[in-house]
Amino acid sequence: MCGIVGYIGTKEKKSVILGGLKELEYRGYDSAGLAVMTDNCGCGSDIAYFKAVGKLENLEKKTANFTSKGFGVAIGHTRWATHGKPTEINAHPHFGEYSFVTHNGIIENYKELKEYLEKQGVKFISQTDTEVVVHMFEYLNRSEKDPFIAFEKTIAKLVGSFAILIITKAAPDKIFFAKNAVPLIVGKSDEDEIIFSSSDAPLIGLAKEAIYLEDGMYGVAQMGEVKIYQQKKLITCTPQLLPADKSYAQKEGYRFFMEKEIYEQSQVASETLMGRIKYNKINLEEINSQIFDDIDEIVLCACGTSYHAALAASYLFERIAKIRAKVETASEFRYRDPVLNKNSLFVVISQSGETADTLEALKIAKNAGLKTLAICNVDNSSIVRLAGNVLLTRAGIEKGVASTKAFATQVLTLWMVVLYIAQIRKTIDEETLHSEIKALLHIPQVLNIPDGLHEKIHRMSKHYLHGHGFFFIGRDIFYPLALEGALKLKEISYLHAEGYASGEMKHGPIALVDEGLFTVALLPQNVLYEKTKSNVEEIAARDGYVLTLSPLEFELSDDFIKTSKQNHAMSEFFEMMVALQLLALEISIRLGNDVDMPRNLAKSVTVE
Ligand code: G6P
Repeated sequence: MCGIVGYIGTKEKKSVILGGLKELEYRGYDSAGLAVMTDNCGCGSDIAYFKAVGKLENLEKKTANFTSKGFGVAIGHTRWATHGKPTEINAHPHFGEYSFVTHNGIIENYKELKEYLEKQGVKFISQTDTEVVVHMFEYLNRSEKDPFIAFEKTIAKLVGSFAILIITKAAPDKIFFAKNAVPLIVGKSDEDEIIFSSSDAPLIGLAKEAIYLEDGMYGVAQMGEVKIYQQKKLITCTPQLLPADKSYAQKEGYRFFMEKEIYEQSQVASETLMGRIKYNKINLEEINSQIFDDIDEIVLCACGTSYHAALAASYLFERIAKIRAKVETASEFRYRDPVLNKNSLFVVISQSGETADTLEALKIAKNAGLKTLAICNVDNSSIVRLAGNVLLTRAGIEKGVASTKAFATQVLTLWMVVLYIAQIRKTIDEETLHSEIKALLHIPQVLNIPDGLHEKIHRMSKHYLHGHGFFFIGRDIFYPLALEGALKLKEISYLHAEGYASGEMKHGPIALVDEGLFTVALLPQNVLYEKTKSNVEEIAARDGYVLTLSPLEFELSDDFIKTSKQNHAMSEFFEMMVALQLLALEISIRLGNDVDMPRNLAKSVTVE
């Protein structure tokens, strides 16, 4: 996810900005940039800017001979590509004739705004959504002749998520800022310097307190003063004490990155959906809709958690889009001389975009002349570069080795592809399509962790530290979720856990059931409730220890996590997913394991 930093003061601006961006490196990025406004020569303000693709070292090298003395303002940015490739042109800050902007988030209506500005003769140079902000600001400032009003009006036109900083020669001692749905923090030092950032780590050491801006807030800052507005009214915000520990701050108060990433899921799910649903229709502009012409089969291929996302999606492709769907483990696919059908769409799913087996499988499919689509979290990764079509999942960097938010966004993206095909092929009626879209849009809310759930799971987790293993069971889409729940647990707890289709239990696995075997049963209301319930009863009858996740009370459970009543199976899927992630997390913490870096595992497996 992108990171932004801003500074007003007399310290060497480039160093402050680079230092701040370094603290935001943990958020992940693929290019970086900064702009500094000074009055070095005493003959009026001037803005210098620098951008570089790749690591911050590249930006440091580019700015090695640049320094700025005295008072000035500066902004900086690390970019995680979502609209347009990670190139220098697409890197922030974006500029107009006399102003520069950095932005974190997605401007959903940028196309409409861009079209409007182009008609007024404005020229765009990047492929980003962000560039529209600076041009709109300058365009409005032409008539308003007041940069604050121009800024206020610009922000009012934006739909989407944003943390924005603008510096402009029209107000050379100020930074204009706005926040909606992505974080932005502002602090003031004892020397009256002002520092902005996406998280508190860059502020630690410079300021003692900070204001954590809330959605809809915007304003203007100058040395010693930050004016914050909401709905055009000047408001007063109370600063909060900053944490003293930087690594704690990078985890934003969470104990582990995995924990933080579980809590981020609601936010990143909104980003995944952003701009891809318009007027009650799925709108996947990034891909060529013709890739679905003449396709009679979808082949989904992936490894690990991404494989589970593929498996879950395969049910949806057949049920909703009425298209045959096959799921392949990439490491197996590679060497089994697969018979490939030219009318298949080959879909690879990968968080990193670098998994060797998945990449090689993609090469095989491409060489065989198949149409290809990558569902990936990292732009410009090897898989993204190779695939014919790409949908980015927009989960932001995932640091915990055990994948959580990447999985959630993969399933969400695949569900959108399913609905897109259903929409094109009219395999479901308009009413069903609308209710599916409604359900899709409801997911960010489902992913909010309800009060008390984490604490309950923490308390419950002490029951699961002994025994001889775990079964995770479910049916239909809850079967891949059971596999994923088991994988999460084994990855970070090192306890033996297996996922099974509930109906398969009696074909062998049930022989293992006794009082030392834990079964985690996924019992949704909307999918085969009675059938799964009788499978769980069979386990309880053999004295197995059962943890049930269900919206309906189940008296035979030893432990019970009551999920909410949802009217869509996918809502139940995502709610149970969060509970399973928290269960794995809490068991692992109790066992004293390194949650973020489990033994023997790597985040990205680039060897076969
Ligand atoms: C590794 C990671 C897993 C991940 C798998 C596939 O094994 O530890 O968390 O699911 O690779 O990775 P990908 O980046 O292709 O999704």
